[in-house]
Formats: sequence, structure tokens, C-alpha cells
Amino acid sequence: MALPQRVWMITGASQGLGRELVLAAIARGDKAIATGRNLQRLQELERISNENQSGTGDVADRPSRGECRALQLDITADVSELKQKAATALSFFGRVDVLVNNVGRGMVGVVEEMGFNNMMKQFMLNFFGPINVTNAILPNMRERRSGTIVFIGSRSSWRARFPMLAPYAASKAALDAAAESLKAELAPFNIGVLTVLPGGLRTTNWQNTNVMPVSPDARLDAPAANVRDMEAMLLPSLFTEASSQREAEEKARFDEGRIEDYATQRAEMLKWMHAQDGVQYGDPAKAAKAIIDVVCGEGLAVSKNQPRDNGDDVDFSDSIRLASLPELLVLGEDAEENIRERCLTVLRCLDEWKDVTRSIAHTK
Ligand SMILES: NC(=O)c1ccc[n+]([C@@H]2O[C@H](COP(=O)([O-])OP(=O)(O)OC[C@H]3O[C@@H](n4cnc5c(N)ncnc54)[C@H](OP(=O)(O)O)[C@@H]3O)[C@@H](O)[C@H]2O)c1
Repeated sequence: MALPQRVWMITGASQGLGRELVLAAIARGDKAIATGRNLQRLQELERISNENQSGTGDVADRPSRGECRALQLDITADVSELKQKAATALSFFGRVDVLVNNVGRGMVGVVEEMGFNNMMKQFMLNFFGPINVTNAILPNMRERRSGTIVFIGSRSSWRARFPMLAPYAASKAALDAAAESLKAELAPFNIGVLTVLPGGLRTTNWQNTNVMPVSPDARLDAPAANVRDMEAMLLPSLFTEASSQREAEEKARFDEGRIEDYATQRAEMLKWMHAQDGVQYGDPAKAAKAIIDVVCGEGLAVSKNQPRDNGDDVDFSDSIRLASLPELLVLGEDAEENIRERCLTVLRCLDEWKDVTRSIAHTK
């Protein structure tokens, strides 16, 4: 029996997990709308799907049979533009069955130095952007009483106890909480919501992480330096004379907003991040396949999905599939360990402070 074909809309598909999600969707035989800022990279995905449909493709390990359309979409655009983009996306295949809010990047920065505007930039990308894109697509899903919204969060929202992680972890935690409430709001319309919490994935995400040493008073329009650049300037062992004009400028900008008291924490954090880069636990292609399987109730997730067998017909109806979506999808043993540890800490805290917790009840 042919599997039901779905239409996926995936944000941030030019590279990393988003790109792998598009490849996994079209390999399943589905239709994918690959969205992102870099149209050229998205058109490469269109080319792969076209060549494989016509049998001329050469991606033996990626048997793609589905169809892909590229759409330029910056998720931080204003709401009216996002609505127009949603209309274009819907015009490609007539509907979107699954929206994957994949875009997300980190800003690492000390809270005191970040200031409101920089924190807002992080929330714009990791929280308001995904919410705005979701709102632009939801009217169509509500009308059809069908759909799934996926949010790519992070284990960092459960493991925030590191200096400089506040902007990223807080923005992802906000996304988790909003998704939970959205799940309750959308259940009556047969629309599922799935939050995915990956651990480290071996993508270029960490290299693109913005290090924000800028104080609230410093120039806010200056582009943030990335980890590699900053690390070369910061770590004493690697620090050499500013070797180029750009490095010199970035060092000057960094010094402008820097609070010296945090120097050691910053250097240690950047050193840690640098050491993690390239050895992350998770394979983004496997993560993408797992997400597709869980949303579709297939492959790795088939035992969790209990379609009703009516003789000849197996009922793959949305309501059955949605009922079997996990509360949270944790990907990677590293994420599992962090989240278990956090749960145990919270339970321990509830036990140890129970007397105080329960002390505020009205006496009658
Ligand atoms: N990698 C990890 O270790 C890890 C761990 C936990 C969670 N995650 C989460 O997983 C998701 C995917 O991360 P990844 O590792 O695949 O990251 P990535 O390789 O850096 O890819 C991020 C994607 O988002 C796009 N993007 C950035 N800003 C955008 C904007 N304003 N509008 C539209 N697209 C934009 C990028 O496009 P451009 O090419 O235009 O920049 C790129 O395609 C993120 O939500 C991330 O927070 C990652």
C-alpha cells in the first residue's frame, strides 16, 4: 500500500538539519518546500529532486522520489511579508501538511553585556520568527482541520547552567513553553505539535554561533563575531597579534563592550565550545530521518503508532497519528543525559523544599 504523501515546509533548509530534512522528505516520496535566505542553495535541492525524478540523478544513497520547491524566506521578516510567503508556499502544492520550524542559531553572551536589543535579536530568530511563520501557515491548517507543526528546540533549554548560554537557552525554553500551550489550542482542530530537543548535531551551527561581547551601550548594528574569530582573539594560548585589519576592528569592538570581570568565564566557555565543534554526538541526516519517521509514525516510530486495521484498510488517519506523537522528541544520548539530570534535580528540589512549598496554603 502506498504511503500517504505529505507536503513539508521546512525553514532554514540551506544547510544543516534543515537541508537533511528536505532530503529525507523527498526520499520518502513526499513534497518539500525548502525555505531559507540563500535561494541558490535551496535551488540545489530542487535540482536534486528534479534529477532524481527524471532518473538522471546521482545520489545513490539518497533515493529521492519526491518533489522539492525552493522559497526564499527570512523568518525574521515582518508579519505581512511572512503571510505573503505563506500564500506562495501554499500555492506550490495546495497545502502544507507539516511545518518544520527548524531555523535557530545561538548567540552566546553574558547577560549583563548582552542588553535588551541583543537579547531581542536572539529571541527574534529563535522564538518570534518560528511563532510568526507558524501563525502565517495555521489558517490553512485550521481550515483543513489537519496538520502538524514541528519546533526544533534544543536540550540547552534543559541544560542552561553554563555561563553565556542564557540568550540561546532562554529563547529555546520560551519556544518549548509556547509549543506546549499551542498543542492544547490546536488539538481540537486535529493539528499536532511536536517539540524536538536535539543534543549536539555535527553541523556548522556552532561555527555560526554569534558571540556577543557587546554591552548595551556599544554599537548594536555591528555584526557579531563568530566563535572561531573570537576564540582566536580571546584564548590566551591562541591569541597572537591581530593579523588583519578585520581582526583588529573586531578586537576593538569587543573591547568596547567587554566587562573584564567575566573574562575568565568567557575564555573557558569559548574554549569548551571550540572543543565540542566537529565532535558533536548527533548525525543530522539520522536526526532528520528520525523526525520524519516520528511525524509519519513510520520506520523507527512504527511500533509507537497503532493504526487501526479494518481488514483490507489500514487507518492512517491524522487523529491516530497525532495521538501517538511523543510529548517531546529527544534526539541524542547527550540530550537524554542532560534532560534526565535536569528532571532529577527538579524532583530532588521538590522533595527537599516540600515543607516550604506547602507552607503558603490558606488555613481555611
Ligand atoms: N547543531 C546543534 O548542535 C544543535 C543542537 C541542538 C539544537 N539545534 C537546533 O537545530 C536547528 C538546526 O540547526 P543546525 O545545526 O542545522 O544549524 P545550521 O547548520 O547553522 O543551519 C541553520 C539554518 O538556518 C538558516 N537561517 C539562519 N537565520 C535565518 C533566517 N533569519 N531566516 C531563514 N533561515 C535562517 C541558515 O541559513 P543561512 O544559510 O542563510 O544562514 C541555515 O540554513 C536550530 O534550531 C538549532 O538551534 C542544533
